Amino acid sequence: MRVVRRGGLPYALGLVLRQLEWNVRAATSRLILLPPDSIQIEPTTRCNLRCTICELRHWTLEGGDMPLQKFEQLIDQLKGLKSVVLSGLGESFVNKSFLEMIAYLKSRNIRVIFSSNFTIVNRSIARRLVELSVDEIQVSIDGATKDVYEKIRVGADFHRVIANVRGFMDARHRLRSPIPKVTINFVTTTKNLNQVRAMVELSESLHVDELVISDMRPFEESRPLLATAEDVSSSLRKSLRHSDNLGVNVVVQRSLRRPINKCNLPWSTAYITYDGYVMPCCYSIQQTGNRARQMKLSLGNVFTQDFLRIWNSEAYNALRREVKAGRSPETCRGCPLYAPKETITFARERQTLAEQKHSAFGDGPPSSEAVLPVEWSLTNWPRPAVAQMHIPMKSVSSK
Ligand SMILES: C[S@@+](CC[C@H](N)C(=O)[O-])C[C@H]1O[C@@H](n2cnc3c(N)ncnc32)[C@H](O)[C@@H]1O
Ligand code: SF4
Ligand code: SF4
Repeated sequence: MRVVRRGGLPYALGLVLRQLEWNVRAATSRLILLPPDSIQIEPTTRCNLRCTICELRHWTLEGGDMPLQKFEQLIDQLKGLKSVVLSGLGESFVNKSFLEMIAYLKSRNIRVIFSSNFTIVNRSIARRLVELSVDEIQVSIDGATKDVYEKIRVGADFHRVIANVRGFMDARHRLRSPIPKVTINFVTTTKNLNQVRAMVELSESLHVDELVISDMRPFEESRPLLATAEDVSSSLRKSLRHSDNLGVNVVVQRSLRRPINKCNLPWSTAYITYDGYVMPCCYSIQQTGNRARQMKLSLGNVFTQDFLRIWNSEAYNALRREVKAGRSPETCRGCPLYAPKETITFARERQTLAEQKHSAFGDGPPSSEAVLPVEWSLTNWPRPAVAQMHIPMKSVSSK
């Protein structure tokens, strides 16, 4: 047998070098997190409406716009960025530079998604949005009739908004473009729960791509508008029973509180306010209505610091450690989607999922009425931790 003796200077040097390499790798993977490839940016906190479901209605703080130059500097910092949600609390079109912001992102081949009340989107803006190849637009319409809609979306004119959506769909059709994907977002409250079927019909008549029906996230002042989970379930079951006739894709999103350690947003995205503050996500912004406190809890400011430094800062990593450990960091207190791990047991979570999946709309035992062509998924972005049911349209109504 031949014995190979290990030793000598070259061997020791090899070991030292290898150890060094491991240390660098470990430190790098632990300390340097690559920037996210999707983020959400709030172009403004100003808004031309005062919707009853929205906390902005109760703000006493003056709103503000992100300046175009600051926006461009921010985008230039974010190497590898693939997708931006370009709306937050506020109406993005109120910022006069909004279309230029979109153009800047598209010139860098970045996906653009935003939500809008569509009060400002006239024919010429519609045409420009299609020409810019915006990827997805979520139009917020919380009522199928003038009366109900205008009581919730205070300050908007129902017929004008519907005309704007029609004008937009015409522009997309004339320019023979499959994008932007157009979704109507309908938030359920006690005031509009009886309009679900009418919303489906309105969405069909507008030839949009999808209707998303989601639960309202309550805050103190909007609590009286909150429909009970049972009422929402029962209304959805009744209204969507004859899914064979649907002429539009319907996505039902029921809020479902899951253990916080299931949240991956602090690793995968960030929310930047109009004045540069970095928060882990839009839910950490929308929870309290107390902006001043939120800004205190922010993880840094991109107008004064480099994003990658903030992203890899001790404050960000401390928040990630808390989330991973199943505890709610201060910034995430009041999150409508996740709760501390010990408050939601695994068994309870599975039970809730199973109940919702079975009964299609969240209550009662499986019933033949509720057997729908449901595709079940839990998605994380752009709508984290909500139970989603996709009801594909059956009769395609093309324009
Ligand atoms: C905050 S708005 C901002 C964008 C734009 N101003 C709009 O209305 O679409 C974004 C979305 O959040 C929804 N929203 C507002 N308040 C909500 C709440 N309390 N619960 C659930 N969704 C809400 C709106 O209906 C809208 O679809
Ligand atoms: S929901 Fe949108 S349109 Fe309504 S007040 Fe809030 S930001 Fe403005
Ligand atoms: S726990 Fe909630 S508030 Fe915190 S990052 Fe996740 S989704 Fe956002």
